[in-house]
Amino acid sequence: MSKRIKVKVSKTAQLTCGARALSYYSKDNYYKSDDYLAPIFMSPFFVFIVKHFPNFASRFASKGGGYEYLVSRTRVIDEIFKNHSKSFQQVLILGAGFDSRAIRFNNELSHATIFELDAPITQNTKINKLREKNIELPSNLKFIPVDFTEESLPQKLDEVGFKKGITSLYILEGLTCYLDPETINTIFDQISEYSGKDSMIVFDYIYSSVIRQENIYKDEERVYQGAAKIGEKLTFGIEKGQIKQFLSKYKFELVDEFDSNRLGKKYYSNEKGKIFAPVIGIHSIVIARKI
Ligand SMILES: C[S@@+](CC[C@H](N)C(=O)[O-])C[C@H]1O[C@@H](n2cnc3c(N)ncnc32)[C@H](O)[C@@H]1O
Repeated sequence: MSKRIKVKVSKTAQLTCGARALSYYSKDNYYKSDDYLAPIFMSPFFVFIVKHFPNFASRFASKGGGYEYLVSRTRVIDEIFKNHSKSFQQVLILGAGFDSRAIRFNNELSHATIFELDAPITQNTKINKLREKNIELPSNLKFIPVDFTEESLPQKLDEVGFKKGITSLYILEGLTCYLDPETINTIFDQISEYSGKDSMIVFDYIYSSVIRQENIYKDEERVYQGAAKIGEKLTFGIEKGQIKQFLSKYKFELVDEFDSNRLGKKYYSNEKGKIFAPVIGIHSIVIARKI
């Protein structure tokens, strides 16, 4: 775990939550997403700006296509919860930050147990904020404070009654790039071992060339330096075009993948199919099934 998130709330979790809060207040349907809880985690000043001046804030956030990426990622994963929750008996959200799906999709998930794992300080901040705002925590939601780089995931899962071998959904949204390759290998091995038939994993990743700072993509240097500056350095990537090989090591098969071009076409293109708001080209979102 980076030194920063050992002692402070994850800045990247706050930034992604801020993007969802802005998107929630957006008047532009292309940028609209449904995280009505995101604003409660943000400062009153931030909420005032995004609520009353969403167009101004959106123009400011849009520089470089990172905001478009975060909004479309929220929408891709929300659709999975909306349409496929019934298929899973357990949901494990790793690096949950201010993810509110356990509450927002409470009806769809009423039959399942949801486990959220995150760095202790970020997780406590979230729980306190929910309590402060009198938001009822679903009885099927369990919180697990963890440091993925130093603690044993199986031990943590066993302690809270996470079951091995049943159909589960694993979410790693905006997480893989902040872990080291060894930790990623351990986590994916363990997820594979715990996954029952038809379990699914949803995660996004950064291309390895960004970690090597090859400067192939527009704005990658700004993102790389920005993450380092706030103390949450980018440390893991997957080679572009190698996702099937990566998944097969852990006995998962690719179901779908959304790179920037597909996200642009799905969410930010006009009737003629022309993308009018390009999504930053350094990430990809993966949906995969246990073989
Ligand atoms: C970019 S945020 C994403 C948060 C959330 N999934 C979202 O999309 O809004 C990354 C999250 O990973 C967590 N994280 C990063 N490294 C971690 C580690 N070693 N152990 C536990 N959590 C970690 C941070 O605390 C943070 O909440």
